[in-house]
Amino acid sequence: MNKLLLTAAASTLVLTACTNEYTPSEQANGEEIFKTACISCHNPIEGKDNIYYELSTDNMNQAYIEAKITEGSLMMPKFPNLTGENLSAVSQYVLEHSVEKK
Ligand code: HEC
Repeated sequence: MNKLLLTAAASTLVLTACTNEYTPSEQANGEEIFKTACISCHNPIEGKDNIYYELSTDNMNQAYIEAKITEGSLMMPKFPNLTGENLSAVSQYVLEHSVEKK
């Protein structure tokens, strides 16, 4: 029962994570989207050029990145207007500019 309540509380918090209404143009490429909407929080990893993320092996895929953008988290806003081609373009950009966490 306690566990259930905790789960309910946690999902309420996730649902109230803030929302970023950024909407790119249909033709925007991944880099443009990233440099407009993401770079304010996601800087390059120190000592690495153009690498922004260290992802665990399980998270080195586009599906994880897309879910993160769509759902956000406690710390990260969700982007409900990043959808379709825009969503996959920016996710691909993120994946191409990530290294696997060892
Ligand atoms: C307001 C700041 C902020 C903005 C803007 C933001 N993020 Fe984040 N993001 C975070 C924080 C903080 C984390 C780490 C906490 C977490 O994983 O929830 C994070 C985590 C992530 C992760 C997971 C990284 C990992 O190690 O698993 C991905 C992927 C990501 N962001 C992609 C994006 C993309 C793509 C955009 C732009 C569309 C974006 N973020 C915009 C703050 C932000």
